[in-house]
Amino acid sequence: MKDRIQLTKGDITSVDVDAIVNAANNSLLGGGGVDGAIHRAAGSQLLAECRSLGGCDTGDAKITKGYRLKARNVIHTVGPVYRGGASGEARLLESCYRRSFEVAAENGLKSLAFPSISTGAYGYPIAEASQIALETCLAQLERFPQIEKVLLVVFSDSDLNVYRDTLKRLS
Ligand code: AR6
Repeated sequence: MKDRIQLTKGDITSVDVDAIVNAANNSLLGGGGVDGAIHRAAGSQLLAECRSLGGCDTGDAKITKGYRLKARNVIHTVGPVYRGGASGEARLLESCYRRSFEVAAENGLKSLAFPSISTGAYGYPIAEASQIALETCLAQLERFPQIEKVLLVVFSDSDLNVYRDTLKRLS
């Protein structure tokens, strides 16, 4: 499964895949961080489509077109706000990755790129979050052989090092 996962550092808005995943909020109407960057790069048609979706529950995922992005689609998921770890955060973060794969598979997509969901404004500690991200991606790649490639696109060298260490430890 590991050969279908790639770790990179960079701007997810410039990645050429079937869908990039957005770390959105429950409104799906935009925000800061990666969400703001995706909306800026995709253009105002993305916000118009998002308005028709009626928001999104934490841990769930919804798909739109990619508009001006290289990516053909955006899968919007809502990570948990980290409140110490005893409020179901791990289960919800896992659900974000799992639901994004399910939505991708339902739409016949073959390549996906994820940012590091919840580890910015939502405060999830990067080491724990990287373990959930990578374990869930590996499990979902096994479940969905039609998904050929998953990129995890982090935004700093230190996050890349954490993800690399975590991936090394996973079998
Ligand atoms: N490409 C890849 N990763 C990025 C980019 C980018 N262009 N920009 C930021 N990151 P965050 P969250 C990284 O805060 O924690 C928004 O306002 C960033 O460095 O974007 O899930 C939403 O509307 C960090 O490592 O998402 C929500 O209200 C990671 O992406 C809230 O923030 C996630 O940070 C969601 O918070």
